[in-house]
Amino acid sequence: MKKIFAANWKLNKTPLESKSFCEELLQKLDSQFFENSEVFIFPQNYSVGITSQTLKGSKIKVGPQNIHFETKGAFTGENSAEIAKYFGCELVLLGHSERRQYFGENSEGLNKKIRLTQALDMLPVFCIGETLVERQNEQTENVCFNQLESAFDQVDRLKRIVIAYEPVWAIGTGQVATIAQVAQIHKSLFNKMNDLGFKSFQILYGGSVKPDNAKELLAVPYVDGFLIGGASLEVDSFVKICL
Ligand code: PGA
Repeated sequence: MKKIFAANWKLNKTPLESKSFCEELLQKLDSQFFENSEVFIFPQNYSVGITSQTLKGSKIKVGPQNIHFETKGAFTGENSAEIAKYFGCELVLLGHSERRQYFGENSEGLNKKIRLTQALDMLPVFCIGETLVERQNEQTENVCFNQLESAFDQVDRLKRIVIAYEPVWAIGTGQVATIAQVAQIHKSLFNKMNDLGFKSFQILYGGSVKPDNAKELLAVPYVDGFLIGGASLEVDSFVKICL
């Protein structure tokens, strides 16, 4: 199975910066790399169009970091998945912990967003993960299972989906989960996704992935790739993680 390297640029990079990042990236990744790997990029919304245009014809896929659960209508300030698709997007990032924490994303809304993403034949990259307190209370598995189950009502099990497991306490903190912690939860998540009936899924790890810890993490069973924040902002560090 191909490994996935997904860049989450969050609220960073102007359209021009996004364009030059992609031009440089295309020069550094050759066709052989894409035989075993996939690259996803989630730019800030205003940069989605130019990123997609710059990567047109390449194997790199692009998507917004959030969508609204309706494609059109009286929803001032929201983003349309249909328009993202028009710009060439094939993916949507959903349920990132920053969206859950700061913007009140909940399972009900996320369920609608996953279903819309599927209906548009785009690939959902669905984020889950526990907080530090939840981990300390040994709730990690419960919390993650609940985040999965509660978002999957009527979600098509036959369509591909990507799960990004990101412990909230490891995001942007430099505090990466241990290999044993990652191994344990990824195995449980793999089994859970099978139990839930999904036929085509990958599970990414995210949270302070850097060039110096990537190799070790990628070797963990059931880690199918990464969702990378800070270290995806520079081409060199992103490429070092990919290669
Ligand atoms: P980080 O962010 O790599 O900066 O920890 C990961 C993410 O939020 O997706």
